[in-house]
Amino acid sequence: MATAPSPTYSAVTLNINGEKHTLTVDHRTTLLDALRERLDMTGTKKGCDQGQCGACTVLIDKRRAVSCLQLAVAAEGREITTIEGVAEGEQLHPVQQAFLDLDGYQCGYCTPGQICSAVAVIEEHAAGWPSAVTDDVRPEAGPPPLTADEIRERMSGNLCRCGAYVSIVQAVARAAGIPAEAGPVPGSAQDGSTREGAAA
Ligand code: FES
Ligand code: FES
Repeated sequence: MATAPSPTYSAVTLNINGEKHTLTVDHRTTLLDALRERLDMTGTKKGCDQGQCGACTVLIDKRRAVSCLQLAVAAEGREITTIEGVAEGEQLHPVQQAFLDLDGYQCGYCTPGQICSAVAVIEEHAAGWPSAVTDDVRPEAGPPPLTADEIRERMSGNLCRCGAYVSIVQAVARAAGIPAEAGPVPGSAQDGSTREGAAA
């Protein structure tokens, strides 16, 4: 006796920015497409659609994720934060404010992903997570100084075709609370050692 084909659609409830959204999706629908095409939440951008540019970055359970590689059905029950949910009402998140104040963008297409990524970078760093450029990775060493190299490495999954990297690094440093009196972030325009087009 022939078995019935498996259903290819399911109803899922996604918890996005504190609100529940129930929709029926093809199992192959990515979270990115569910956000943009089904829920009209177009703040999250589609760049490469294959996990390489970071434009589609959102937070899932406060961790960074590229939503083009995440199936919507796999995101059920998780806490999803998109760029639309980063601010507190009318109050911009400090990362958003720093990007505005320091021109951390040109065309702005990569910016939602950059901002979501930076929000998590600052939390990851404060929690003591090392990066690939951290010298002392012993837990007792605590968080490393959030240097420009640390910021660039931690933000390296977010590409910017406009090359706004210098300002992006400065904005992340500002939002992380690195005081201006500490001097220019090494590698910034003011530092005089800017690497043109250096990857963030
Ligand atoms: S669109 Fe997802 S990483 Fe590029
Ligand atoms: S600001 Fe244009 S791609 Fe980054």
